Amino acid sequence: MATTISASADATIALGRTVAATLRRGDVLALCGDLGAGKTHFVKGVAAGLGASASVTSPTFTLIHEYRGGHLPLYHFDFYRLDDEDEALKIGLDEYLDDGGACVIEWADKFPALLPPHTRWLRFTHREDGARVIDEIPAP
Ligand SMILES: Nc1ncnc2c1ncn2[C@@H]1O[C@H](COP(=O)(O)OP(=O)(O)OP(=O)(O)O)[C@@H](O)[C@H]1O
Ligand SMILES: [Mg+2]
Repeated sequence: MATTISASADATIALGRTVAATLRRGDVLALCGDLGAGKTHFVKGVAAGLGASASVTSPTFTLIHEYRGGHLPLYHFDFYRLDDEDEALKIGLDEYLDDGGACVIEWADKFPALLPPHTRWLRFTHREDGARVIDEIPAP
């Protein structure tokens, strides 16, 4: 994915929709970057792009959301509140990764070793003018 400058929340959702069209079974998207930079909005767009019926809310407190009814099941994780790798494994991360859907993980850089080698890494950063910069980066 080329570096994208997103000037609005809606533009970040639209980017998620575009990326959703590229997703295949087993794909993993790892999202990292600043607090409030738009990761959850991006996931909203991914879910919408897959045609999932449920709406996406921030998983900050619930750790995982499943979205069904689209072209692929979408599993949305947030590592923000997890203290260690064991907690991620306890909520079933490995099973979801192997389940034949697509996985998207906020704050994935907390535990990069848990993710498979084919994971695509997207970084979200605030620009001084308020826009967000979203780019694909190598695994940390
Ligand atoms: N270009 C933009 N893209 C996305 N969100 C934007 C943009 N400009 C402003 N915003 C606002 O920034 C906030 C982004 O929130 P969001 O929950 O998507 O961030 P996040 O990266 O998931 O944060 P967290 O690290 O807390 O999970 C929203 O309030 C949104 O309206
Ligand atoms: Mg978020």
